[in-house]
Amino acid sequence: MDIKISKVANSRAHELRKDELVFGKEYADHMLVCDYKDGQWGTPEIVPYGPLSLSPSTSALHYGQAIFEGVKAYRQPDGTAAVFRPEKNWERLNKSAARLDMPEIPKEIFLEGMRQLIALDNSWVPNEDGTSLYIRPFMMATDEFLGVRSSHDYKFMIINSPAGPYYSKPVRIYVQEKYVRAVPGGIGYTKAAGNYGASMLPTSEIKKMGYDQILWTDAFEHKFVQEIGTMNVFFIVDGKALTPDLNSGTILAGVTRDSVIALLKENGIPVEERPISILELVQAYKEGKFQEAFGTGTAASMSLIQDLTYEGETLTLPPAETFPIANKIKKQLDDIRYGRTEDKNGWLFKVN
Ligand code: COI
Repeated sequence: MDIKISKVANSRAHELRKDELVFGKEYADHMLVCDYKDGQWGTPEIVPYGPLSLSPSTSALHYGQAIFEGVKAYRQPDGTAAVFRPEKNWERLNKSAARLDMPEIPKEIFLEGMRQLIALDNSWVPNEDGTSLYIRPFMMATDEFLGVRSSHDYKFMIINSPAGPYYSKPVRIYVQEKYVRAVPGGIGYTKAAGNYGASMLPTSEIKKMGYDQILWTDAFEHKFVQEIGTMNVFFIVDGKALTPDLNSGTILAGVTRDSVIALLKENGIPVEERPISILELVQAYKEGKFQEAFGTGTAASMSLIQDLTYEGETLTLPPAETFPIANKIKKQLDDIRYGRTEDKNGWLFKVN
């Protein structure tokens, strides 16, 4: 595919303190930009990372036709970089696009654009254990128009940020009953910017109370758990892995979620994807059967959960560092991502 490339005069990669990576703070030298006009996508361009010039009436800023993805590239033992399952992110971005009445992005622009961008910014892929290059593809409505209707024009972009762990220690979870994230028929299954905007106030409130993240519950009864702000959720109960199913359209279909389910099954651990009530977890806790809990997400990878607080009662799990299943799967997943073991499922997409 034809991509116009304008390189930076001087790379900033050597300035990067790879031992002090904070998630989402530093950006690689280049970004990909592709505009949708008159009903079709133009030629993608790779240009130096920098500010955009946007009209104040740009419709994404007012009505939130804005969607994104999270993908990661990992340094391989031979010095190349590989992206983890980017095709799944392409599929999911297009599901988000369909729900927000935005145009689908062609696979070639998404995947080949990403490949060429990461190949060019290869020196930004950190090589310390636990680090990666976080890739953020996104699309926004760009009509300069304040009438409420779907935009005609859009911009698709990819930016890259070298990243360390999202959570540095096991997380403390607050089970939310006051606010709601998603309802059937809504946009909970999409990676729409608005889903995250609506979570800011509830998250600030629970952070002040000493928790790290919210576990959202269903909008009708506040009984069935959905997902954590930045992650899908898994519980190990009586040797089985339980995770909410995707059927109600209120939960993001995580790529890490899908990969962890596959690995759990490969390890012979039964996986139940079904509605999970918080009361079932409280009961299992009382019976001593609630063994482990963890979240999965691209940014957060696999984050262990130390405790969950529901209606003033805290369910404290054994020290997360000792979780046998979660830590085993986490290691297996990392070994695949960093090319330390055979990629049997074909999850790595080599960029150079
Ligand atoms: C991701 O895991 O990629 C996310 O998008 C979560 C968050 C950083 C928004």
